[in-house]
Amino acid sequence: MECSSLYKRRGLGSRRFHTKRISPQIHVVSSCSLDSMTSSPLLYVGELTTAQVVAAAVFVWLFIRHLSAKNLRHIPTEGGPSLPILSFIGLYNFLAHGREIIQQGYQQHKGRAFKVAMVDRWLVVLSGKKLVDELQKMPDDTVSSATTEVLEMPNVFASNWHKDPVHVPILRNLTRSLALVFEDMFDELSIAFREHIPANSDRWLPVHAYPVISTIVTRAANRVFVGMPICRDSGYVHMMVHFEEDVSKAVKLLTILPGFMKRAAGRNATVIDKRIQQCLDYLRPVIDDRMAMMAVFGKDWADKPNDLLQWIINEVVARNQGPEEVARIVLFINFGAIGTTSAAILHALYDISMRPELADTLREEVEAAVAEEGWTKAAINKMRKLDSFLRECERHNGPTIVSMFRNILQPVTLSDGTFLPKGATVVTPTFATHFDEENYPNATLFDPLRSYKSDKSVQPQLITTSADYVTFGHGKHACPGRFFASNELKAMLAYIVVNYDVKPEYEGVRPENLRRGLTNEPNNTARVLFRGRQVD
Ligand code: HEM
Ligand SMILES: *[C@@H]1O[C@H](CO)[C@@H](O)[C@H](O)[C@H]1NC(C)=O
Ligand SMILES: *[C@@H]1O[C@H](CO)[C@@H](O)[C@H](O)[C@H]1NC(C)=O
Ligand SMILES: *[C@@H]1O[C@H](CO)[C@@H](O)[C@H](O)[C@H]1NC(C)=O
Ligand SMILES: *[C@@H]1O[C@H](CO)[C@@H](O)[C@H](O)[C@H]1NC(C)=O
Repeated sequence: MECSSLYKRRGLGSRRFHTKRISPQIHVVSSCSLDSMTSSPLLYVGELTTAQVVAAAVFVWLFIRHLSAKNLRHIPTEGGPSLPILSFIGLYNFLAHGREIIQQGYQQHKGRAFKVAMVDRWLVVLSGKKLVDELQKMPDDTVSSATTEVLEMPNVFASNWHKDPVHVPILRNLTRSLALVFEDMFDELSIAFREHIPANSDRWLPVHAYPVISTIVTRAANRVFVGMPICRDSGYVHMMVHFEEDVSKAVKLLTILPGFMKRAAGRNATVIDKRIQQCLDYLRPVIDDRMAMMAVFGKDWADKPNDLLQWIINEVVARNQGPEEVARIVLFINFGAIGTTSAAILHALYDISMRPELADTLREEVEAAVAEEGWTKAAINKMRKLDSFLRECERHNGPTIVSMFRNILQPVTLSDGTFLPKGATVVTPTFATHFDEENYPNATLFDPLRSYKSDKSVQPQLITTSADYVTFGHGKHACPGRFFASNELKAMLAYIVVNYDVKPEYEGVRPENLRRGLTNEPNNTARVLFRGRQVD
């Protein structure tokens, strides 16, 4: 309980901004986070507020949830009883053993739906490709994306993006510009790698992988998001990395609080207004300049920048909002981009450190592509084995046990006869789908070249979503950042295999993943050994 007393003393959220650098010590502090949550969710909340408030809240929320479960009675429950109060057992089970419960439900109800208990809602889980495809095809007036809402973005960011997803068209613009921004991104990540992993060829350098990788990911992404020199400013980078960590923790905390406590707790945990001001410390001069130009010249002028920051400013100005809103969106897009991408690289790094022969294969492919195309997006597109490896990493180590959160806006009946009432929240299982032998023969086998060897006429890539590959969700609300993510991931991994040899800290041991609640995360304390390769 050392961990919780630490929170109590310093307060969740405001804690880490006193520190300027990411170092292993801070990391030890930050990694104690909500570890205790899965084992004793109540105890944890008890540390945060008073026991009485929580006890009262528990009864109120169980009662409310019981009422809202009435119209879902026809859908079988997994992981515990659906009776009032007793359904708390289901919630507890789900937080502790979510992946197993979903797996069980998937096997038992394949091709149909079942439900599991979350704190303030039930999740209706659709198992089987047919239902997932039906869900994916439903029109906008029947289902809406619930991702930002379920991830507590309205409470954490005090935003209404779940109703007005301003970020989606902006990220689509980013997808269209990937070839243009590649050179900058690659420039930034190579400089960052050299700076943060200065390995030479005569000895193995142990690297605490998580903080280093998130720093490099953040720099490379922000070179594209907000440009030079801010993306390289260590204050800005650390602010973003810590902000992402704080939000992730806040999200985990909020998912175990009842609805009426979320907003206050969310704002208290992330202190979003303060974070916006901290972000503006770096961005305000640029934003002010650009807004002044817009005030004078209108929508267009010679040399108007065409970058993500400008697209955000365009949207904000069109809504008559100010620089604070620009910062809020920059923070949000960073939240979407940093943790997910860093986790994916870490998994890939842990996996490749165990397989030197795979590193050789990928290196050959990368070197051939770069010899033809230089370090460009065109070269990245040719790295099909590398892509296949990353896709397999995400199949085995995706970030959540369910995805495709959708709200049912109009009552609808699925082809298996399942009735989904208005207001239900629907998801699809990720791991259960990805480990289904019907979808992936020898599913538990980690086969890096699985999709490279695919006999489908169009080889699936990392960014290709389908009813049997839902790491990025599927359908029109699938992750809008995945094209950017794939590009950044492939560029980083290509850089790694060409410039370093890697091996695990303990021979033959891949650091285990951490499963908590809905999430599956890479070990964030492990080290990876790097040795520089002689490149001329
Ligand atoms: C490996 C990296 C990533 C993974 C695994 C991932 C996964 C996901 C998933 C599963 C969803 C929900 C999709 C659905 O409901 O169908 C999502 C949504 C989203 N992602 Fe990603 N993502 C990644 C990278 C990124 C990046 C780099 C960005 C930003 C540049 C980003 C921004 C977003 C945003 C803003 C949404 C919400 C879209 C909405 O409002 O509907 N993601 N992501
Ligand atoms: C809000 O955060 C402060 C510290 O930042 C803490 O002292 C306080 O107890 C928190 N309040 C609630 C309701 O969580
Ligand atoms: C997309 O980019 C174009 C310029 O290339 C810009 O005019 C437009 O406002 C951007 N749209 C969004 C939604 O950001
Ligand atoms: C599954 O693995 C076994 C043994 O590793 C192999 O003999 C078999 O061909 C594999 N099946 C498929 C469909 O890949
Ligand atoms: C993460 O890895 C380190 C070193 O490999 C190990 O000591 C630690 O116990 C691991 N943490 C978890 C939670 O598995």
